[in-house]
Amino acid sequence: MRFDIITVLPDLLESPFAHSILQRAKNKGLAEIYVHNLRDYSTNKHKSVDDYPYGGGSGMVLQIEPFAKCIEQLQAERTYDEIIYMTPDGETFNQDIANGLSTKGNMMILCGHYKGIDQRIRDIYVTKEISIGDYVLSGGELPAAIVTDAIIRLIPGVLSDETSALSDSFQDGLLDAPIYTRPAEWKGHKVPDILLSGHEAKIAAWKDEQQLKRTQERRPDLLND
Ligand code: ADE
Repeated sequence: MRFDIITVLPDLLESPFAHSILQRAKNKGLAEIYVHNLRDYSTNKHKSVDDYPYGGGSGMVLQIEPFAKCIEQLQAERTYDEIIYMTPDGETFNQDIANGLSTKGNMMILCGHYKGIDQRIRDIYVTKEISIGDYVLSGGELPAAIVTDAIIRLIPGVLSDETSALSDSFQDGLLDAPIYTRPAEWKGHKVPDILLSGHEAKIAAWKDEQQLKRTQERRPDLLND
């Protein structure tokens, strides 16, 4: 799976993909991530990529030309299954959307900045618009990193334990059960006896019960969907 992320702040996207699971996915050749600096596609000698909004209003708007040049150059090299624009007015990201995107091939992700991007880029090129929640960030870079992370960990072979992505919170519509590791007792705080019992069926039933309890307490909305 290949991701091409277009941004005015490429430095912001260097670190998130250089560690742990995402780095391993890249090393195993399961995911390729390319970050493109929008300024390299500027059409003027000052390398500027933004301008004032027509009709007035505050803030600058990213122009259509640099985006079009970058997108079309990439499209000339390969086909893309999705061109995603990160924006607070997009569809709210969740595990179902991540699951759907994890089965795709090449994806482009456009990051907005300042006041946003010229609407014509969205109308002409974008196939999917995603928000990571009802709050406004200063740009689409961190949202792009979040969406990319959520997708890559679902690619078969990325996680060492094949089942662990499937047992994540939300995959079965429920939150995870509490988890513990050694020591079995710390300053009087004990791990539940059942987990030390070695009785697989009883442990599985306990985990199911805990998942349901946690979901009822914390996210009852998930049970009503
Ligand atoms: N850009 C700025 N805020 C955002 C959000 N909440 N989701 C996606 N992209 C954004």
